[in-house]
Amino acid sequence: MSAVLSRRVIVKPLHPLFVAEVTGVDLTVPLAREDFLAIWQAFNENEILVFRQQAFTDETQIAFSRNFGALETMEAHAANNYKPGHIAIMTNLDAKGDLLPLDDPGMVHRLRNEAWHTDSSFKPVAALASLLSARVVPPPGVGGNTDFASGRAAYAAFPAARKAALDVMTVIHRVAEPKNVDDPAYSAEQKKRLTVTHPLVRVNPVNGRKNFYVGSHAQEIIGMPNDEAQKLLDEITAFCTRPEFCYSHQWLDGDAVMWDNRCALHRATTFDKTKYRRKMHRTTVAGLAPDTLFATAPTTAV
Ligand SMILES: [Fe+2]
Repeated sequence: MSAVLSRRVIVKPLHPLFVAEVTGVDLTVPLAREDFLAIWQAFNENEILVFRQQAFTDETQIAFSRNFGALETMEAHAANNYKPGHIAIMTNLDAKGDLLPLDDPGMVHRLRNEAWHTDSSFKPVAALASLLSARVVPPPGVGGNTDFASGRAAYAAFPAARKAALDVMTVIHRVAEPKNVDDPAYSAEQKKRLTVTHPLVRVNPVNGRKNFYVGSHAQEIIGMPNDEAQKLLDEITAFCTRPEFCYSHQWLDGDAVMWDNRCALHRATTFDKTKYRRKMHRTTVAGLAPDTLFATAPTTAV
């Protein structure tokens, strides 16, 4: 379908239910309007887009990401040395490129990325999209993948008789895990500000398709006893992450992957962090933009 929008953009499925590889465009230079629209359409259809051989710098990654809307500024925490910006760095390397010790505060903080989650679901306006670009990749087969799970495919396959009740539930998401109490990673101000509610089931505004919206920050359900809510959230997360709804991305040099945080879960897979080097740079698009963007899509990545 995207071929209708662009003569250059080619979209190839990588999984029966979601995930597509996009080729034909260099994302490090300003995009033609029809190319961006084709990518935007593929993003809404496929949840996860894989781009190969993109030589992103932080500047060009930020410029491309801004096509999708305003960028988030990260929250201050140990993994960004409490100096957040538009680029989040997922790595086991220090500024000189040397391996960090496992007990480094930033390394400990990044272990949270190995739980299934959606980025910034603890913010009042949750993230629309994240773009992760590979800067240093571990060798093939040693781990350090990014796993994705389709909350949309899971919702479609979930027992129909239970959906009406789930459709109207509201979930409390918190930045701190698993509860706010005694989590030293965030300040009291952050824990208070970053405790929000979102629907359990979200609807894509472009195509109307529904999905489960869960993950490690989803911790309670409004009006439901905590133990019952935890059991239900665990059940839905386990359902979403069944093998048939999952795709594991093994990173290659030059890869960049953009995912739809509204409907896809993700996690980093572990690897021997004392032996192999891995460095990924992420930009995150805030979630308010898409409706406006779809109506008045920008023409270039400026
Ligand atoms: Fe993440």
